Amino acid sequence: KKTIFSGIQPTGVLHLGNYFGAVRRWVELQEQGHNVIFSVVDLHSITLPQDPATLHSQILNMAASLIACGIDPARAVLFQQSRVSEHAQFNWVLGCLTTLARLGHLPQYKEKSASLKEVPLGLYVYPVLQAADILLYRATHVPVGEDQLQHIQLAAHLARVFNNKYGRTFRLPHSMVYDDATGRLRSLRQPTKKMSKSEADPRSRIELTDTPDQILEKLKKAVTDHTSAVYYDPEARPGVSNLMTMHNALTGLSYDEIRAQCEGKDTGQYKLLVADVVIEHLRPIRQELTRLLEDKAHLVGLLDLGAARAKAIAASTWAEVRRKVGLSE
Ligand code: TYM
Repeated sequence: KKTIFSGIQPTGVLHLGNYFGAVRRWVELQEQGHNVIFSVVDLHSITLPQDPATLHSQILNMAASLIACGIDPARAVLFQQSRVSEHAQFNWVLGCLTTLARLGHLPQYKEKSASLKEVPLGLYVYPVLQAADILLYRATHVPVGEDQLQHIQLAAHLARVFNNKYGRTFRLPHSMVYDDATGRLRSLRQPTKKMSKSEADPRSRIELTDTPDQILEKLKKAVTDHTSAVYYDPEARPGVSNLMTMHNALTGLSYDEIRAQCEGKDTGQYKLLVADVVIEHLRPIRQELTRLLEDKAHLVGLLDLGAARAKAIAASTWAEVRRKVGLSE
């Protein structure tokens, strides 16, 4: 039995990139009966400015979205990161075991800090907190999209450093990334970039809460190229290939089967077909999300339960860390 941990930031609405790269896999792992622990990582989200007036409702919204996608709070531990104070405490200990040079080389840090005049310390320490998340639950496997690989490697590195210094304590966590293109779904506006919550143009991503009309509009406007035939070539034709990736992920049809099915269709017609597939897949999820958000008290109760269960695990690891480091007897 594997112990699975993963997290998602409440910085916006869950989009299809998060869904394909991570959340869908989380549900599969839950269904396979593994120990599964998922966190809405609010402390990570404030490494970049968030509006205090909306952050809390975004946290509830993200938790509800995960449940709507199939995470079952009875079987999975689903919790809000800042409710479990051990994350921030353990972050400190791990921070004392790593170097500025190692953190400064991480690609996500370089990307996010490049456009900033002043870089917040939190952005720098971000992957250390992520390692604390993973190790506190002694996770063996971490299902994420491709963009998180280096962060999981850092967590494994810190586990090794801790074990060497203080004696064997942590198993090394492994990342689980889809090795097909769903590990890196692309933006509908700039198909060479990943689909992301932070891209300014909302037409670049399909969100779980989008109405069928919005989905149709976004897919109709998706950037493709001047070739009208539908075939898969992610290097030369990233736009249409990205649509085929979604289509393949939602229907299980291979790229060859899709190509055969689309003989004679142009990319404009193909976009309508993909829109239909996406709309039908998201319809029940969106309905469930609406239903969950109508009963806030129930949702808050589920998160209370999740926090208590997470706390019990985290507190036991933290007590062991304190002993090993010499902070307690
Ligand atoms: P976040 O919130 O940016 O994204 C959540 C998950 O979605 C994946 N993802 C994608 N997958 C495929 N294609 C895309 N276009 C795409 N965009 C996002 C991400 O890889 C991620 O798996 N640092 C993490 C949150 C985190 C975490 C953790 C993850 C905090 N602590 C511990 C695992 C374990 C993040 O920013 O995810």
